[in-house]
Amino acid sequence: MTIVLGSDHAGFALRRILAARLLDEGHAVREYGATDESAYDYPDAACEVAVRVQKGEADFGILVCGTGIGMAITANKFRGVRAATCWSEDAARLAREHNHANILCIGARLIDPELAIQIMDIFLSTPPSEEERHVRRVRKINELPGVEASEAPC
Ligand code: RB5
Repeated sequence: MTIVLGSDHAGFALRRILAARLLDEGHAVREYGATDESAYDYPDAACEVAVRVQKGEADFGILVCGTGIGMAITANKFRGVRAATCWSEDAARLAREHNHANILCIGARLIDPELAIQIMDIFLSTPPSEEERHVRRVRKINELPGVEASEAPC
């Protein structure tokens, strides 16, 4: 799969760990955002990743900041993006099954790297539920307007 990752300074170290793991597993990986632990504004990285997921250039996005919250707030402004902040394996599984999430957001200051890897593995390997109620609800999300890649500031 092709997976795009982004982070701010708070998520930089964990993003590198997750990217290395994905490369080891044979995925194509692209990284955006902070290049070290100097201050970096998380909306800029979220924009880069959300645009690429919206355009279908990646199968999934992964965004890492201190809490995973600012990244999700930003990414979810983009049409077709369903970004979920996940803190446990169950949250990751349900975000995929029920919400058909296509971007995983992780809080590097809230969970340790081992759990983050487990969450990522579950997120990437869980298929979306095809049950009618979930498909209907996700369709309602998708029908709401959102920012188009062509209008994006990044
Ligand atoms: C940066 O200090 C922090 O605010 C950011 O990483 C993130 O947690 C925002 O949601």
